[in-house]
Amino acid sequence: MFQTIIFDLDGVITDTANFHFKAWQSLAEKLGVYLTEDFNEHLKGVDRTESLSRILSHGGLKHSFSKEELITFEEEKNNLYITLIDQVSPENILPGIEQLLNDLRSNNVKIGLASASRNAPKILQNLGLYDYFDTIVDPSKLKKGKPAPEIFETACQQLNIHPKDAIGIEDAYSGIQAINDSKMLSVGIGDLNILKDADYILNNTCLLTFDKLLEIWNNK
Ligand code: BG6
Ligand code: MG
Repeated sequence: MFQTIIFDLDGVITDTANFHFKAWQSLAEKLGVYLTEDFNEHLKGVDRTESLSRILSHGGLKHSFSKEELITFEEEKNNLYITLIDQVSPENILPGIEQLLNDLRSNNVKIGLASASRNAPKILQNLGLYDYFDTIVDPSKLKKGKPAPEIFETACQQLNIHPKDAIGIEDAYSGIQAINDSKMLSVGIGDLNILKDADYILNNTCLLTFDKLLEIWNNK
């Protein structure tokens, strides 16, 4: 059986993608860049520096700012994001997730977090889920963020478990690439067209149960 489940946070455990997008949209507007909802797909899973770079490229502003200005923009977005996630509470846990965490625990399966967000520990605390996690990767220590596999490999190393004995769960295209390249089994949550490279795709977290994961693992 699998020995660990490594979760992404935003879009898998809670739906904070919209808060990230609102905060980016507000910054982008000040810079004269208009972002439509569908652009959010390009921001999911990738770290804040890469997100800003993609937004500026989208607006034709790729080389318009100094390093210092870019850092100020990232801080501005993060400050707004922090005010938005202050509202996050256990009510914002996506359906089925807490039951799954309990089932993993009672079956002695290790639980890890591989989120690109430096705000992840704070969000887990606001959700009341922090204590379920046996390990949380610190994304600021990584050489390469998603889609590179390093974050999932690091989660497995921290748990002393081989990636071949692990399942990774993701809602973003970049995250599925990262799981696949780490040689873990990948489960995508969401849109089939975006997550088509995943080993298995579930429409939403209601379908993400311990029994379903067992079935996926036994049929791989
Ligand atoms: C990921 C989100 O979980 O975290 C991205 O999907 C976000 O949209 C990234 O950019 C980094 O988050 P933070 O909180 O460190 O800015
Ligand atoms: Mg995500």
